[in-house]
Amino acid sequence: MPLDWDADSYRRVGTGIMALGHEVLERTELRGDEIVLDAGCGPGELTAELAARVPDGRVYAVDASPRMVELARERLGERATVWEQDLLDLEAPEPVDFIFSAATFHWIADHERLFRRLRAALKPGGRLVVQCGGAGNIAAIRAAIEDVSGDPWMPWNFATPQDTEARLCAAGFADACAWLYERPVASDEPLVFLKTAILGAHLERLPEAEREPFAQAVLDRLDKPFVARYMRLNMEAKADA
Ligand SMILES: C[S@@+](CC[C@H](N)C(=O)[O-])C[C@H]1O[C@@H](n2cnc3c(N)ncnc32)[C@H](O)[C@@H]1O
Repeated sequence: MPLDWDADSYRRVGTGIMALGHEVLERTELRGDEIVLDAGCGPGELTAELAARVPDGRVYAVDASPRMVELARERLGERATVWEQDLLDLEAPEPVDFIFSAATFHWIADHERLFRRLRAALKPGGRLVVQCGGAGNIAAIRAAIEDVSGDPWMPWNFATPQDTEARLCAAGFADACAWLYERPVASDEPLVFLKTAILGAHLERLPEAEREPFAQAVLDRLDKPFVARYMRLNMEAKADA
């Protein structure tokens, strides 16, 4: 069951994460008349940029978190059709030319099924451009979490480029290409950043009274000033014609 995110906090402290998605959109070519889908749109900041890039197209946006969907609808108004759905059950209203996704897929364990749903939503020849957390992501933060919890359980799927390319091909994509690069993300509100963008699934498993002390104990174990060392997994692929 996907998390319901604290959408207001994410919009405030998640600007460093959104900047990584902006970078991906900036390097992506679009004609301007495509039907596009933002898969895991969050509060809709990147969807708004995507919409500006397709003035003669149509924009769809989907997210599993009710609070994110509410904020995205407010942010986007008439510019996009936004709905609440788990991407593992994705059903787009019509076949799309282009799927974009940022900072979302590492929250989804079953990439085989995810990629099949995305392939089914694309027109033949349609494009997929994605960035999410990949192998090696937030290694120091994961070590601090395990130290505090005493439990190796983590909610993320930080996949390798090799596994990702193989899964994309198996799901019916051609020209699949995946690669990693590192991007440090700082925050001047590290505790809120940790609670909002990283620890949500861990905190959800704890009683209310233990959540703040857990997050603080993780933060106390990290180097100062706080920097999240994000290892981003990028992927691009085309749906088989
Ligand atoms: C870090 S936010 C990224 C939001 C936005 N793409 C951005 O870059 O700002 C991750 C988003 O993924 C969504 N998400 C996680 N698992 C999901 C799933 N299985 N189906 C749909 N959305 C999911 C969350 O609800 C959340 O809005």
